Amino acid sequence: AVERPPQVGILTVSDRCYLGTQEDSSGPNLKAIVEQEQGLAGQVVKTKIVADEHSQIQDALINWCDEEKLDLILTTGGTGFATRDVTPEATKAVLEKEAPGLALSMLMGSLQITPLAMLSRPACGTRRNSLIINLPGSKKGSQECYEFVLPGLRHAIQLLR
Ligand code: MTE
Repeated sequence: AVERPPQVGILTVSDRCYLGTQEDSSGPNLKAIVEQEQGLAGQVVKTKIVADEHSQIQDALINWCDEEKLDLILTTGGTGFATRDVTPEATKAVLEKEAPGLALSMLMGSLQITPLAMLSRPACGTRRNSLIINLPGSKKGSQECYEFVLPGLRHAIQLLR
């Protein structure tokens, strides 16, 4: 049987995008690269913009894992040191298993590009059959970090199904 392509959700976490004072460029860019045939060849079936609020982030993640049963959820934004940055905390609250190797891959790759990579605090891991990965907020940073974990994604998703 032909396998169903990975079902993916992209959650943009940003007060400014949520309020409409800034355009979300990272979310649509991630959707385009996730769907690339030579990459993951995933189907982005859910996209959403939430504010930097623990409850909004947590509710979206739980819904996408438990009800929508997505294979992969990418978040972009809210991983830094600003007081409003709570994406990793909201993510850890819903994870059943942490996957520190994914965060380490992003850090090792990103430090070769910019020392500011040390300011991202991503959480990664699984809840039920879903893999959740926090990416930084910028278009550049989120794309770079996605590309560093991409080599492991197909296999991870297969193991979770
Ligand atoms: N990682 C990569 N690969 N490339 C980048 O440009 N930007 C960094 C970092 N990680 C960056 C990166 C910067 S400047 C910050 S502040 C942190 O990610 C956190 O970003 P966030 O708060 O938008 O999630």
